[in-house]
Formats: sequence, structure tokens, C-alpha cells
Amino acid sequence: MSFLKRNKTKPSSKAYAVVTGAGSGIGRSFALELAKRNGTVVCADINLDAAKETVDLIEKAGATAFAIQCDVGVAEQVEHLANEAEKLMKHPVTLVINNAGVGLGGKFDELSLDDWRWCLHVNQWGVIHGCHYFVPRFKALGYGAIINVASAASYTAAPEMSAYNVSKAGVRALSETLYAELKKDNIRVNCLCPTLVPTNIIKDGRIPERYSKLADHALMNFAMTTSDSVAKLTLDRLDKGELYTTPQVDAKLFWLMKRTAPNLYAKFLGFSYQFVK
Ligand SMILES: NC(=O)c1ccc[n+]([C@@H]2O[C@H](COP(=O)([O-])OP(=O)(O)OC[C@H]3O[C@@H](n4cnc5c(N)ncnc54)[C@H](O)[C@@H]3O)[C@@H](O)[C@H]2O)c1
Repeated sequence: MSFLKRNKTKPSSKAYAVVTGAGSGIGRSFALELAKRNGTVVCADINLDAAKETVDLIEKAGATAFAIQCDVGVAEQVEHLANEAEKLMKHPVTLVINNAGVGLGGKFDELSLDDWRWCLHVNQWGVIHGCHYFVPRFKALGYGAIINVASAASYTAAPEMSAYNVSKAGVRALSETLYAELKKDNIRVNCLCPTLVPTNIIKDGRIPERYSKLADHALMNFAMTTSDSVAKLTLDRLDKGELYTTPQVDAKLFWLMKRTAPNLYAKFLGFSYQFVK
């Protein structure tokens, strides 16, 4: 594909896409939005029934989708997903959205090593596996696109979120690296870094009981966006060839503070946290 032609291409349009964690929240919104853009979607999720529900919604809207059960933290299952997706869609995959993720909160010394492993298994290894198995396919195809769902947590470094923050910082670092490394291979990369989006992430996560209800309430009632808007915006940013999607004002503000005054920002966090019981 010529340089001119590939720069006119919109990866979100008529995509042959794989979306992980497509059974709920942001992943479901990505799958539905891709279908609206005349795409064919493989909805992968550890929860097969949830993935099938997303497929039903897409089929009702008149588009084509398939459900596959996959634990993204298990390399063999992601390799299987990559192979099966191509067979089901009868077309090479052109876009992978590494979205599956889990929420984990609590003080550093409250977290068990099992908590850490669970969080990194899904949030970090899931994304590494997705990139590992799809990048060679995109190179062979001559083009492709990747959306990695990180979080504003990848740079906000808020207290009581150590494992989650680490997992998402890794996703952002990987996305930044691949954005530059894969440019000459005509593979686009976008890294999504939202703050609060109303989904099931708190309800289904491992969040300390002392604030799980409050956190879920904040997520469901005070988020400045919806999963549908986030998915739409991210696909538009990918089409424009942008690396970062920071959908909300607070995500942009934290990014600016962290980048321009990192020491002051850390002191501010430490100071504020003294008043949290
Ligand atoms: N909701 C937010 O406020 C928010 C903010 C920033 C980033 N994110 C990120 O967005 C992504 C999507 O989360 P969400 O908010 O839509 O949550 P969600 O809980 O609504 O959806 C997550 C989906 O991932 C699936 N999943 C969990 N473990 C899996 C595994 N091992 N393999 C495959 N699928 C698995 C779940 O079954 C679920 O369908 C996550 O990576 C999350 O970290 C969410």
C-alpha cells in the first residue's frame, strides 16, 4: 500500500476487529461502534455468555459478530483467538482492541501477591499477548491497528491503586514504544487513558469493602462521559493517527500536571492523602 493511500485509510471503518473484554462496559461499546462503522467483530471475553450478549446486540443492529471465550492472560488462548478470529471472519484481522481489564484497589500492604498476579495477568499480560500475536499478522498483511486500553491511572499514580497503576503504566509504555516502532510497518497504535467511565469494573473488581460502594457510586454517577462516547472518540483518534486518547477534562488536567511539575504533583498527592481515613 502506498504512503498516500495508507494515510487516507480509516482503520475503524469496515474493520475486521477483535475486541477483548467485549462482554461489558467499554469493550461492548467498542464492538457496537465498530459494527456501526460497517465492521465485523469478534467479541472475546472470559465470560462467554456476556460476549454472546454483545454479539446478539450487534446482530440485531444488522451487522456480523462472533463470540469467543478467551482468558487474555493465557498465551495459548490468545493465540487460539487470533487463529479462530481469522477463520470465523474469513478475512485477516485488521484491528485488535486489547481492552479486557480488572479493577484492584487497597493499600500496598493489604494486597496479596495473588492480587498482584491476578491484576497483571489480565491488565498487563493480556495486552502483551494481544500485541504479541497480532503484530506479526499485521506485518504480514502490510497494515493493521491496535488500541490498547490503559487508564489515566497509568500516570496519575493515585494511592491505594499500586498494582492497577503498575499494570496500566506498562500498557502505556508498550503502546508508546509500538507507536514509534511500528509506524514504518503501517501499523497504527492508540492508547486509551480515561478517568472514570460508568461500567462494571468496580462491582466485578477486588475493591476493599470499606469504600467499594462509594467508589461504585462515584463511577456510576459522577463520571464525565459514557463508555459509548469513549469508544467513539478513541476510534476517531485512531483514524487520525493519534497515539493518546484522554477523553475527559480531568484526564487531560492530570496529564498536564504530571508532565509539567512531577515533583509538585507527587507532593500534592501525598499531602491530600493524609486527610483520607
Ligand atoms: N471503567 C473505568 O472507569 C475505567 C477507567 C480507565 C480504564 N478502564 C479500563 O477499561 C477496560 C475495560 O473495563 P470496563 O471499565 O469496561 O470494565 P467491565 O468490568 O465493565 O468490563 C471488563 C470486561 O473484561 C472481561 N474480562 C475480565 N477478565 C478477563 C480476562 N482474563 N480475559 C478476558 N476478558 C476478561 C470481563 O468479563 C468484562 O466483560 C479495562 O482495561 C479497564 O482497566 C476502565
